[in-house]
Amino acid sequence: MTPITEPVHLDARHITDAWTALPSWLPVPGLGALPINAFLLKGREPVLVDTGLAALSDAMVDRLSAEIDLVDLRWIWLSHTDADHIGNLDRILSLAPNASVVTNFLGAGKMGMMGKGNPERLRLLEPGEVFEVGGHRLHQVKPPYYDAPETMGFFDEADRVLFAADAFGALLPGSVDTIEEVPEESLREGLVAWSSVDAPWLAQIDRGSLGRMLRALDALEPAHVLSGHLPVAHRLDTLTEIVRGAYGRGTTAAVTPETAVQVEAILA
Ligand SMILES: [Fe+2]
Ligand SMILES: [Fe+2]
Repeated sequence: MTPITEPVHLDARHITDAWTALPSWLPVPGLGALPINAFLLKGREPVLVDTGLAALSDAMVDRLSAEIDLVDLRWIWLSHTDADHIGNLDRILSLAPNASVVTNFLGAGKMGMMGKGNPERLRLLEPGEVFEVGGHRLHQVKPPYYDAPETMGFFDEADRVLFAADAFGALLPGSVDTIEEVPEESLREGLVAWSSVDAPWLAQIDRGSLGRMLRALDALEPAHVLSGHLPVAHRLDTLTEIVRGAYGRGTTAAVTPETAVQVEAILA
């Protein structure tokens, strides 16, 4: 693992013939590094999923432009409107004149209040609506935990790709190219640390309902698990097992209030 001392964008990574990851890493002093990922679905109507960090804007635009002509970009699926997901939204919208933002009513409202995006370039999804794009059917998935109520993950039936937004993210000791390089213990500790910060209410969640949500995700049997904050994973059950083991049993002591404040400060 490579220690991360400043935000860094890595090279694009091929996931399937259609899906590509655009990974970057953000240092979290004293705690390691947090992956910040965007993803690209190529095809007749290319879809960018999230837009990365503003601090890495040039690198993000370069990586994206190397994959597709931005004039061809048709959709930008926003998982939610946090700064680490919409950091380059306005810049990419200005460079990609044919792209519209895919979000829901609440996401659109929050963007409006922040003065982000363009109200004339929105495709609002109804609850439960399947987004059909270039031969892919993206089924909306509410991740088992999240930090913004507009959060929309999805499951792509065709490529068996699950996108979980902030869920299953992990603070890791340093950057890696693949999740296989992360020792099991680092993954467990990092996933519990991140989830405790991202969704502190997990500590109070009913064990039964958490278990049902995780089982429903496992039943999708994704071949690829995409999180905004984890290298691309291929075994969802490894991740759901960590979450199942860490929560639903009362308060977790994994993260101190100081840790939470520190992480929130760097993402603000
Ligand atoms: Fe978030
Ligand atoms: Fe995030």
